[in-house]
Amino acid sequence: MPADHPVVLITGAGRRVGAATARQLHARGWTVLLHCRRSRDDADRLAAELNALRAGSAHVLVADLDDPSVITPLAEAAIAACGRLDALVNNASTFHPTPVGDITDADWDRLFGSNARAPLFLTQALAPALRASGRGAVVNITDIHADYPLAGHVVYCMAKAALAAMTKALAKDLAPAVRVNGVAPGAILWPEGEGEMDADLQREILRSIPLGREGGVDAIAETVTYLITGASYISGQIVAVDGGRSVWG
Ligand SMILES: NC(=O)c1ccc[n+]([C@@H]2O[C@H](COP(=O)([O-])OP(=O)(O)OC[C@H]3O[C@@H](n4cnc5c(N)ncnc54)[C@H](OP(=O)(O)O)[C@@H]3O)[C@@H](O)[C@H]2O)c1
Repeated sequence: MPADHPVVLITGAGRRVGAATARQLHARGWTVLLHCRRSRDDADRLAAELNALRAGSAHVLVADLDDPSVITPLAEAAIAACGRLDALVNNASTFHPTPVGDITDADWDRLFGSNARAPLFLTQALAPALRASGRGAVVNITDIHADYPLAGHVVYCMAKAALAAMTKALAKDLAPAVRVNGVAPGAILWPEGEGEMDADLQREILRSIPLGREGGVDAIAETVTYLITGASYISGQIVAVDGGRSVWG
């Protein structure tokens, strides 16, 4: 039997923006499917916390989106979890610099794999369920750097630009049953690990933000939640959530 509550699959939902988005949709009564890759422990902890609030309202799905062969099983597991799917948030993303002169095929595959290829094939695999929902919605998390390049990150910028183009193209191809929108974050939470930015670059970025601060994960989560749970006449749009940075000289 399909679940009574609407169901959302969020990729990269173990931590940071994805986890905040899961919390907000869960607070609105949604069942959340938390996809993760390496953050299994975080995703399990989040699922336990949400299931303690409402039994059976959170499930964890593990897959490395660099591997094209995981898409079909991931989509099947997502449908099997609750027997329905109402929304998909393509949030998982790899981010690291690619200085010209040192760019490799492996950089291309990793940055396009999680940021562009997996969102397309996952959306395609889940399109029948999203159509059947009657309220189907997809939200792709892009980046303001799809339009305003970040120096030294050409491949990431290209991959996010592909995701932005996909957002608009699929808004046509999946209409009228499924709305497809995007959220383009500015500086929300500083990158960690291989994409880490030094203090000078962080200060330079903060100087270019009219609102003068990082956005924090809830700024993205609340916009995604609005695009999924409200916004019934909005499709094909990409909302910049960037403290005004994209209109700064
Ligand atoms: N943070 C910002 O300020 C900012 C700015 C602009 C755009 N964005 C965009 O907003 C979204 C969320 O940002 P964030 O900072 O929360 O992202 P993040 O922490 O950099 O990445 C989110 C998750 O993506 C997953 N991921 C990466 N590569 C994957 C792969 N090959 N297969 C499966 N999962 C993979 C990771 O999951 P595991 O940990 O489970 O491996 C990671 O936890 C991303 O799309 C990002 O590009 C963020």
